[in-house]
Amino acid sequence: MRTITTSNELRSALALQREQGKHIGFVPTMGALHEGHLSLVRCSKQHADRTVVSIFVNPTQFGPSEDFDRYPRTLESDAGLLIDEDVEFLFAPTADQIYPPGHSFSIHAGPIATLYEGARRPGHFDGVATVVSILFNIVQPQSVYFGQKDAQQVAVVKKLIHDLAFPIEVEVVPTVRENDGLALSSRNRYLSQAERKEAAVLSKTLVLVRDLIQKGHSAPAAIAAGIEEFHKLAPHGILDYLDVVGAETFRPAASFEGNEEPITIIIAAILGTTRLIDNLPL
Ligand code: PAF
Repeated sequence: MRTITTSNELRSALALQREQGKHIGFVPTMGALHEGHLSLVRCSKQHADRTVVSIFVNPTQFGPSEDFDRYPRTLESDAGLLIDEDVEFLFAPTADQIYPPGHSFSIHAGPIATLYEGARRPGHFDGVATVVSILFNIVQPQSVYFGQKDAQQVAVVKKLIHDLAFPIEVEVVPTVRENDGLALSSRNRYLSQAERKEAAVLSKTLVLVRDLIQKGHSAPAAIAAGIEEFHKLAPHGILDYLDVVGAETFRPAASFEGNEEPITIIIAAILGTTRLIDNLPL
């Protein structure tokens, strides 16, 4: 694996690969890699000739009171995991490679960025859309790999690629879960032992809501039962939202008729000081 820290060096290395007709797959990450990330890497390794993984904790997607400073930075062990997966290129830039001094442009993600995660984390999806666009321009991959775990991020990235005409295919890789259903996330490491035990409540609530809807219950009735289940299983947890939405627009499914878009059940909750999200496509 070649570890590269500057945009120019990565551009030259990948230009050479493109000249040789190699298909470039790209997995953007913020590091603190776990099996969820590795499933994206494996997918890229399966489909592309060369896999580029970026590790960059992107300051513009964190709000002022969020966990940018304490976000885990584990570059050495991450690199070890990527070597084991036979990744060809690790891009680990410093902030000024991504945001050169004087940088002033950014991408506005539009209405989808104002809902759910976007409403709780103002500016978050603009930051994601901006960094992902910069990375796409540097890497120029044919395919990119994102996890279903961050369903609203997937919707934002798909719309970004569509609206700004990036010639890139998006592959969405299923969520990897612990045995009790907890979706893998770099933030799970913030949970105390007691919070970790309660954290399976997110996936259990999603499964209950999905099962009720599949049995013919209305979305509001299923959500009401889900809220009750959440509080029973996690008496110390705070349920931020539980809803049934269109997977492309994140509009509440109750606001549109029929099969306009696939449906996803989404949940966010706070356990102790840790905010977790999860989702289940219907
Ligand atoms: O999902 C993430 O880790 C980040 O949001 C991403 C896509 C790497 C952009 O910083």
